[in-house]
Parts: sequence; structure tokens; C-alpha cells
Amino acid sequence: MSNPATAPQNIESSLVENRVFPPPADFAAKARLGHPADFDALYKLSVEHPDVFWAKEAAELQWTAPWSTVLEWNAPFAKWFVGGQLNVAANCLDRHLDARRDKPAIIWEGEPGDGRTLTYGELHAEVCRFANVLKSKGIAPGDRVILYLPLVPEAAVAMLACARIGAVHSVIFGGFSADSIKDRLADSGAKFIVTADGGWRRGKVVPLKANVDAALKDSNGAVTGVIVLQRTKNEVPMTAGRDTWWHDETAAASPDAPAESFDSEHPLFILYTSGSTGKPKGILHTSGGYLLGTYCSTKYVFDLRDDDIYWCTADVGWITGHSYVVYGPLANGATVFMYEGAPDTPAPDRWWDLIERHRITICYTAPTAIRAFIKWGDQHPAGHDLSSLRLLGTVGEPINPEAWMWFHEKIGGGRCPIVDTWWQTETGGHMITPLPGVTPTKPGTATRPFFGVDAAIVDDAGAEVGPNVGGKLVIRKPWPSMLRSIWGDEDRYVKTYWSEFGEKGYYFTGDGARRDADGYFWIVGRIDDVLNVAGHRLGTSEIESALVAHPAVAEAAVVGKPDEIKGQGVVAFVTVKGGQTPSKELADALKKHVGASIGAIARPDEIRFTDALPKTRSGKIMRRLLKEVASGQAVTGDTTTLEDLGILAKLQASED
Ligand code: PRX
Repeated sequence: MSNPATAPQNIESSLVENRVFPPPADFAAKARLGHPADFDALYKLSVEHPDVFWAKEAAELQWTAPWSTVLEWNAPFAKWFVGGQLNVAANCLDRHLDARRDKPAIIWEGEPGDGRTLTYGELHAEVCRFANVLKSKGIAPGDRVILYLPLVPEAAVAMLACARIGAVHSVIFGGFSADSIKDRLADSGAKFIVTADGGWRRGKVVPLKANVDAALKDSNGAVTGVIVLQRTKNEVPMTAGRDTWWHDETAAASPDAPAESFDSEHPLFILYTSGSTGKPKGILHTSGGYLLGTYCSTKYVFDLRDDDIYWCTADVGWITGHSYVVYGPLANGATVFMYEGAPDTPAPDRWWDLIERHRITICYTAPTAIRAFIKWGDQHPAGHDLSSLRLLGTVGEPINPEAWMWFHEKIGGGRCPIVDTWWQTETGGHMITPLPGVTPTKPGTATRPFFGVDAAIVDDAGAEVGPNVGGKLVIRKPWPSMLRSIWGDEDRYVKTYWSEFGEKGYYFTGDGARRDADGYFWIVGRIDDVLNVAGHRLGTSEIESALVAHPAVAEAAVVGKPDEIKGQGVVAFVTVKGGQTPSKELADALKKHVGASIGAIARPDEIRFTDALPKTRSGKIMRRLLKEVASGQAVTGDTTTLEDLGILAKLQASED
């Protein structure tokens, strides 16, 4: 008899969601793409003749030398727009100056309530100044520069200044520690750092410069300079000969810096994925294809128009901040809103206050934030005028239908389409997503593939499975904004993404999913997290969604623990909503509730109530830690990405 825990089998999926929300007629009437037939024709073209589709889109960007070939695919290595040359920063700035010089490019608000607006003309001048500063420091094309900054306009300025001179930026999220900086410095071989004295978070100063100093303490001097932005005005030691102030450096710099041309495949940035396991991977993105992917998806998925005030709430330290705070929207000439601080400072209605005051029209955020807002209470958004909003979006993890409905009703007033966008640091841009003027949405699914994306669900042998059968999510054709490699580790690139189905030339996403009868993709979680209960493979997100649909539950994380009989048992970590009290009765009710909504096989063996769940700083639940806690093992491995270490101690204590 085969071992139920190892027998290959398709992932079972039984979450039923029957609500469908067609695009509102008035939205569709004004949308760039408002007729399903137009979308179908364009999608067909994009996958059957990607060269034609992408060449047409790419022609909307500014190239200084034409490409000879759209795609050279030497699996698994892609080159897009071979021979083409461009400057990514010029595409985000200079290209707009004639028509949009006085249009706000960035409207920023700091946590303490200070603010700043930079027009395209002003942003262009700042970027040129900083590009000149970097050049004067000896930074040459291909050199790596670490950016470790708060969410301030200068973060975008520094990214674009690197792009302008062909330097490769590696942004490190401001919440990471000195050790994380040290690892990334060593791996990237960066020789320059741009940081700030601090950043504001919940009224406290995040000690950015102090972390950089600690990271450089025993370094071998590979870092030749550190430029420090003065943000919080706390006292910071400056190392003579190495550290200088941003304001001193830029004061004398010229606001003109000619945009040089770079090859389409010139590296643009390295972004380390925080990953819930193992050594961080330096995901490498290059210029032409990445810019095109983010430009094109921003245009279609957010149906962007010139008068939008667009807010993507992500930090620039994540791929979402790269693609949808900086490159995608600025390449479209959009007005980008940025907010530095925490959503509950000074009060839990900060975001709704920002939307009301700045008349924000598009809000793109993460399910984890939405669930926090649900927990804090409906009175916070209810006290604000959110009528400026016309479109909402989510990214980062499967959104449970409960949170989707709340976002739709309480924030979108029932009138705004929601684009649930599935993608990854590796994919660079949106891959599976609704287009708001044409795609009927269903709560909990990212719906259909974006232009040029050939996504499929396959079994362990790589054969496509039928409707509603769970399997592995793969991408069968290359796309412009795909990662090109893992920095300094080509073998790991090939092994991680191309070994599972490499002989077929499929990219393996690492996600489990199913496709419903309408062709919509439902992500059920990372394959590594799939449970195997008595020979049934169950994704974690459906069980979590079922739990969160119970009125008492705020958030849930499900993991497996070894079980002699079933292979794995189901353990659910649950936080309750305000006003609810954990009890044995509630635990029993929740088990029953999951059994009734999904089936007896998914019924949790254990419910563990907790005050909070361990999350990475980007809001992803750290299931590896929970697995270890659930099975009573000591917690091993890297916990530096954990947002609040105190949670771990509490979880362990709750076992006793
Ligand atoms: O598991 C999927 C989940 O997040 C993973 C990618 O994480 P990261 O590289 O940090 O990028 C996050 C921002 C793009 C995916 O493999 N994920 C992301 N978006 C969704 C999602 N799962 C379901 N639905 C989504 N919309």
C-alpha cells in the first residue's frame, strides 16, 4: 500500500463561491477595454503571436535604438527586445515633460502629517541631481547600490537615479535588520549605500542609519560611500570619508543629467525575496522587458487615466513597490500617492482619512491589511467620505471571500471593481488578474491570465488537468517582465524554477491552484504548504477562508502536523474578532463549521487561539514557524523576517 503522505495525487478543492460581480456598466463604458470581445481578441493575439502583441505595446515606450528581435528564448534564458536600447528613467520622466511637466508625479504624506508634492518637472530635476551625485561618487553602469530608506519621495528619486546612470539598485525594506543588510551587501557586491537617519513608524524612529553602521562594522571596506537623507533629524554618527548628507550632496548638483542609452537586457535591479525559508534569493530584473511588463499591466489592470490619484500602499522595499509605486505608474505618467507610516497612526482611520483628503481614486493593497481593518471595526471607514474611489485592488496572498466582500462593500461602496492580482517577485508584474472593465469577478479568485500569459494547472507529470482539479500552477511561455536569473547563482535559478517541468519549458510558480469551469484560477497556497490528510491533498487557503467566514474569526492560519494515522492532521491558529472570547465551545463550533463548508476531511483536529499570527514584514503568514510550533518542535531557522518576535514566544507559551 502506498504511503498516503507521499502518494502523488491532485490537490482537492471544494470551496464553493457562487457570487459573481460583473463590471459596473458605467465603469465599463469609460474603460480602456470595456467589451469582453475586444479583450478576447487581444488576449488571443497576445498568446498566439506574442511578438506582434508585445512589439505594439513596446512601441508606446521610448527607445533610442530599435530592437531586431522581440524574443530570443534559449530556455530557461530569455532576452527581450534584442538589440534595443532605452533609458528606463527617461521613460518614466523625460518622456512626459512636454505634456505633464506641471502634473504631480508624487504626492507624499509623512506619518507625522508633513507632506510634499513633486511635479514631473521637479521629480525629473531631483533625479538628475542625484544621478549626478552618484556619478561623482564613481558609480558606473552595472555597479550595485543598496537603497535602505523610508517610504519617502527620495526612495523613488534614488531608484530612478540609479536607473538613469545604469547602476543596479537593490532596495532593502526599512524593516529589515543589520544582519539582513550584511547578507545582501555580501551577496550583491554593492559598493555604495543610500539610507536615512531614520523613518517614522507608529510615532517612533526606525533607526536606519544605525542599522547600516552595524552592518558595515566588520565589513572589509568594500562599501566606499554612504549617503544619508535627513528625515527624522535624530542624532546619527557620520563616519568621515565615508558618510555624507543627501542635502549637502544635492545642493550643488546640476539638475541636468543626460539620459544614456542602455541595452534592453541591462540589469535594472536585484530584489531579495524575504522568503519564508532559506537564504534570500537575489531576483534579477532587466530593463526593457520589465519596464514594458509593468507599464502595460498598470495601464490595463488599473485602467489608468490622467486624472487618477493612484495609491499602491506597498513599501518600495517589495516588488509591489518597485512595479506599482514607481516604474509602472510613472511610465504611464500617473499621479502616485505615497504614505510613509503605519495605518493606525495616529488612529485606525488614517488610510480612510488619506483617501478622503487626497481624493484618491485607486487603492491597491494587501489582504492582510484588509483583515486588520475588519478587526479594528467598520466605524473607521464609515466616518469618511470614500466616494472618490473608483477601483480597488489586492495582491500578496489569496484573499478570503469574506475580506473581499468587506472591501467591496465598506471601502468600495459596492461600486468599485476589485482587481485581485496574482503575481510574484519573480514575475515582475501582474500575471493572473481581472481587467476591471471586462472581467466579471468572483470573491477569492484572481480570475484569468493577463495578456501574453499562458498559465495552466498541471499534475506532477506536467499534464494539464481538467476544470476544478487541483494541481501545480505553471507558466508555459516566457513573458517580458520575467526574472532573468538569481543574482550570482544561475544553477539555483534553473533548479528553483525550471527543474520541476523544465523539459517542457514550463516555469514552476511554486503555487497550488485549480481552474474552475469558467477558466478562473483559484490559488490554494504554496505547494510546500499543501497538507496531506489521509491521502487527500488540501490547500491551506480554503480551510483558512472557511474559518474566516465564521463571524467570530478575524484571521486564521492552517498548517499540518504529523499524524500516525492520517499522515498529517490539520491545526488551525485562529485570532478572534473584537468582542469575541476564545473557548472550547467556539473551537468545537469552528471545527464543525469547516466540516460543513468544505467537508469532514478538512475539519481541523486542533484549533489554537492566539492574539496574533507570525507574519513576515510583507504580511505573509510564516507557516514554517507555525508548523514547528504545531508539532511541538523547537523553532529553528531564520526568524529575522518575522515582524514581531514577541508573537513567537506567545505562540510557544500557548502550548502549555
Ligand atoms: O503564493 C502567491 C502569493 O504570493 C506569492 C508571491 O509572493 P511575492 O514574491 O512576495 O510577491 C508578492 C507580491 C506580488 C505567490 O506565489 N500571491 C501573490 N498574489 C496573490 C497570491 N496568492 C493568491 N492571490 C493573489 N492575488
